Amino acid sequence: MSDVAVLPGDGIGPEVTAEAVRVLDAFGVGHTEHPFGGNAILAQGTPLPSETLAACREADAVLLAAIGLPELEGKPVRPEQGLLALRKELGVYANLRPARADGIDIMIVRELVGGLYFGEKGIREDGTWFDTCEYSRPEVERIARRGFEIAGVRGGRLTSVDKVNVMHTSRLWRDVLTEMGTSLYPGVALDHALVDSFAMTIVQAPETIDTVVTENMFGDILSDIAAAVTGGLGLAASASLGDDGPGVFEPVHGSAPLIAGRGIANPAAMLRSVALLLLHGLGRADDAAALERAVDEALVHAPTPDLGGTSTTSDVGDAVLRALESAPTL
Ligand code: NAD
Ligand code: IPM
Ligand code: MN
Repeated sequence: MSDVAVLPGDGIGPEVTAEAVRVLDAFGVGHTEHPFGGNAILAQGTPLPSETLAACREADAVLLAAIGLPELEGKPVRPEQGLLALRKELGVYANLRPARADGIDIMIVRELVGGLYFGEKGIREDGTWFDTCEYSRPEVERIARRGFEIAGVRGGRLTSVDKVNVMHTSRLWRDVLTEMGTSLYPGVALDHALVDSFAMTIVQAPETIDTVVTENMFGDILSDIAAAVTGGLGLAASASLGDDGPGVFEPVHGSAPLIAGRGIANPAAMLRSVALLLLHGLGRADDAAALERAVDEALVHAPTPDLGGTSTTSDVGDAVLRALESAPTL
């Protein structure tokens, strides 16, 4: 039996995890829960306890809800460090962030273990604080390959987003994309966009966008914008994949401290992350499609407050399970 390491995390994380666990059970997927994030810092002094990392390494896939505690902001040890460490340790360099709505079908392929997030950072003797952005050619090549391959099985168009008019690393990024497009992926129509105007394009003409490949920080920001134009963060799921080993499946949203504890968080992003887990993590494409359909249907009947409705987190879970029961595949 497959085993999923479940990391509920902080804030609304455990609330949306409860619904995900009901769905994993419905599909007969085994799972174990592990401490991670702010709660793990408070209990054990570290956001990624070694037992949690070991369980993730051994699992077939990792399902992670959200981390972040307001009381730990600015502290030397923060929940976000655990998330970055988990991604790095598991080598999940390709973060797939789909954003779909009527007439819109965007796939952002975000580089996840390099760039500004992982470059040297610190405080110089003169008191200046710094972060550095670094990319090596192999790091760009492997994420570019993912971008081209995903574009090839989608609409055949790939937009590479960079800031080549200012950043040195973007020069490498654009050169690698251009070379690989010509020599290895002539069947994919490649174009390049600068990140500032591309952010505007996501807002003004999202239906013109197909597959996007970009570096870590740009992908973080652009994926929240893409979520905003397709129904909000309550709906946006993601899959983080390496070349081998378990993938990490998590919503794009965070721990949403302002609505935590009220039972009103939208679990759809988490449940769609379970669908991505079934597809990419466990190779269960039919079950993934059935769950996607069930979530779409549930949101029509049981919209949460972020969608203008009054349904609770567990109402959505109930509606998803009902839709799955009446679907032919389960
Ligand atoms: P956030 O994503 O937690 O919330 C942004 C907005 O979206 C808020 O208005 C929130 O109420 C709403 N929202 C988010 N998820 C929702 C859901 N499922 N249903 C309904 N509404 C939802 O971002 P933030 O407030 O900037 O960050 C809060 C904390 O989360 C920070 O500590 C941050 O570091 C952390 N964070 C963690 C992750 C992660 O675990 N992957 C991702 C993003 C942010
Ligand atoms: C995300 C989050 C994380 C990121 C934070 C919490 C470290 O915003 O997954 O989008 O920036 O990658
Ligand atoms: Mn983010």
